[in-house]
Amino acid sequence: MKKPQNCIIVIFGASGDLTKRKLVPAIFDLYKQDMLPEKFAVLGTSSSKFTDEEFRGNMKRAVEKSIIDCTGDQLSGFLDKLNYISLDFTNAEGYSEIAEKLKVLDNTCDSNCNYIFYLATLPSLFETVIANLGKASLNKSKTGYRRIVIEKPFGYDLDSARLINKSIHKVFKEEQIYRIDHYLGKETVQNVLVTRFSNGIFEPIWNRNYIHHVEITSAEQIGIENRGVYYDKTGALRDMVQSHLLRLAALVAMEPPSSFDSDAVRNEQIKVLQSLRHISESEVETSVIRGQYLSSTIKGESIKGYREEEGVAPDSKTETYAAIKFYIDNWRWGGVPFYIRSGKRLPTRVTEAVIHFKKTPHYLFKQTSGGNNENQLIIRIQPDEGIILKIGMKEPGSGFNVKSVNMDFHYKDLSDIRLPEAYERLLYDC
Ligand code: BG6
Repeated sequence: MKKPQNCIIVIFGASGDLTKRKLVPAIFDLYKQDMLPEKFAVLGTSSSKFTDEEFRGNMKRAVEKSIIDCTGDQLSGFLDKLNYISLDFTNAEGYSEIAEKLKVLDNTCDSNCNYIFYLATLPSLFETVIANLGKASLNKSKTGYRRIVIEKPFGYDLDSARLINKSIHKVFKEEQIYRIDHYLGKETVQNVLVTRFSNGIFEPIWNRNYIHHVEITSAEQIGIENRGVYYDKTGALRDMVQSHLLRLAALVAMEPPSSFDSDAVRNEQIKVLQSLRHISESEVETSVIRGQYLSSTIKGESIKGYREEEGVAPDSKTETYAAIKFYIDNWRWGGVPFYIRSGKRLPTRVTEAVIHFKKTPHYLFKQTSGGNNENQLIIRIQPDEGIILKIGMKEPGSGFNVKSVNMDFHYKDLSDIRLPEAYERLLYDC
């Protein structure tokens, strides 16, 4: 792969869960694979008071927790590139300190003033940080590029999303903005497009004539971790459904694009979203389920209920589980229900899209237990990435008993290469 230009990555919200769990481990992994620029630096910032050394210590533990094989030399070489400044994001004057620090780092890593600003903060701070970056003139440079990466959820509702967009455009041009949905960087999410559009056998039956319904599930075993303040204002619908899972639904439901160009792919996905049937207030009761996890014991460990988690209101009504039935009103999907569900603290961890095909119109054979005369295509996003086709087969022996069996392909059989993590791919693209 091509080496990117030297640059500095500035992470706003560097003491948070996302930085620890995903961003810094992903940057380290890129470093390990020699996919980062020749020279680079990471500048973390948040309101917590840390020295560079303390920040490096925290990130060392984070990397060790998430990446199994790394040598001490690799890790210490990487940690040397990490820097930290504490900042009250609402204080516009404080950004001059960031600008000063960046000047120093420019010299050590010949960055040509190429900066990537990554907003891993609470969404309520996006507009403030962006406006203050503008006031400190960090949004433009005569020599290098300036890019801004924004995590979902993008706003609280349509009005607030529009407002954020407006505020960003006051400071950054569209081509500088990277709105991130890390699900789209997952190997197997990207493979949905390849499965659908590089195989002639699926397209003719990928419609309401052959498909009975589509199910998209993301079940997580983890709870909300240390993200009570964020999660209680967000909930499963905004955190997972309207972002990751709707995008997945769009990939499953979109028309074939005319080319693999990003605009062409995006346009087809937008058409799907535009065709979603509105769920009226009176239909909510029969189309949507919301729930919260309660305290329990999992594998001998006692687990707090959602309302007992730190940062969560004791009478919170925020959902940690959501399931929705909806329709896509177009010729391909007319009348086919789509079911999306997502939740935390569920018994198994699995993300998958299941295409349920219609049953045969008339059934000749006896079905043994477990069989249901229905073909399914299961696109397993994680874990054990792969694809399973469920088909009926004759059970060996006398008679004509039919059993449902799996034809499965495990993604890991395709190559020895470890599947890149979504954040690695997205950070590399930025
Ligand atoms: C994030 C959500 O976007 O995605 C988290 O905010 C969720 O709540 C996470 O746990 C799931 O992503 P992954 O890649 O860990 O399956």
